[in-house]
Amino acid sequence: MTAVVIDGKAFAAGVRARVAAHVARLREEHGVQPGLAVVLVGQDPASEVYVRNKGVQTLEAGMASYEHKLAADTSEVDLLALIGQLNADRAVHGILVQLPLPGHLNADLIINSIDPAKDVDGFHISNVGLLGTGQKAMVPCTPLGCLMMLRAHHGSLAGMSAVVVGRSNIVGKPMAQLLLGDSCTVTIAHSRTRDLAAVCRGADILVAAVGRAEMITGDMVKPGATVIDVGINRVARDGKARLVGDVDFASASKVAGAITPVPGGVGPMTIACLLANTLTACCRAHGLPEPEGLTV
Ligand code: GUN
Repeated sequence: MTAVVIDGKAFAAGVRARVAAHVARLREEHGVQPGLAVVLVGQDPASEVYVRNKGVQTLEAGMASYEHKLAADTSEVDLLALIGQLNADRAVHGILVQLPLPGHLNADLIINSIDPAKDVDGFHISNVGLLGTGQKAMVPCTPLGCLMMLRAHHGSLAGMSAVVVGRSNIVGKPMAQLLLGDSCTVTIAHSRTRDLAAVCRGADILVAAVGRAEMITGDMVKPGATVIDVGINRVARDGKARLVGDVDFASASKVAGAITPVPGGVGPMTIACLLANTLTACCRAHGLPEPEGLTV
C-alpha cells in the first residue's frame, strides 16, 4: 500500500483563508478587529523565526499584531506587569508568551497569569480543565490542527482506535483529550510503554509526538492506518541539515493509508490554528457567533 499524503500546507492555507474571510466580515459588519499579542523574552533564534512568522500571518489575516520583545534578563515582576496590561487591553483578544522562557522565569506562573479567555495557546490551567471535562475551552493549536485534518480525512472518528505517542502538556495530553471527545478509544504511549510497536500496531489513528527523529517505523504501523507526525527534528543527512519527523516516512508510507509529511504536514497548521483561536477569542469577547469548523 502507498499512503495518501495529507497536504498540511494546502489545508493550512484553506484555514487561513476562512479566518481572513471571517475577520473581514467582523470588521465590516461589527467594526471589530481581532488582535493578537505575542511576547518573546530573549533571543532564541528558533523562537525569533516563529514569532516573525506569526506576526506576518496575523497581519495577512487582517488582524492586528502586537509584538513585545523583552530582554533575556527581564524580571518575573516586569513580565507579569506586561501580561496584566495585555489582559486589560480591549484591543487584544489573544496573548501568546513564546516558550521556552529563560530559566529564571517560572513558565507555569507566567502562563497562568494570562486571562484564560485570551489564552490562545490553550495552556492555562483553566483551559486544560475545561478541555478535560468536555467544556468550551481554548484548545492548544497543534492538537487542534491535527484534529481538523483527521476530521477532514475521515469524517467521523467515532469508535476508532487512536494511539498518541508522547505525553507532553502541549501536544500529547490535549491530543488524547480531543480524540476522546470525538469518541475514539484512546491510548497514550510514552518512553516507558512496554512493546511500543505492538501498541502502535493496534492504532487506526497513530499520532507521533515524541521528539525523536524517525522512531516510528513502518513495522509499527497497522496497514491502512492514518499516521499524524507532529515531530520536527533537525538531523544531518549526507552532510546537509534536514528536517524530519518522529515517523520514518519512507517505511511508514508503504503501510499507512494516509500520512502527514514533514515538512508540510502538521507544522503549517499550528499558526493557522493560532489565528483561528484568536478569531474565536475575539468572537467570544464580543458575544458574536463563533466561526464554524475552526474550533471544537
Ligand atoms: N514554542 C514553540 N511552539 C510554541 C507554541 O505553540 N506556543 C508557545 N507559546 N510557544 C511555543
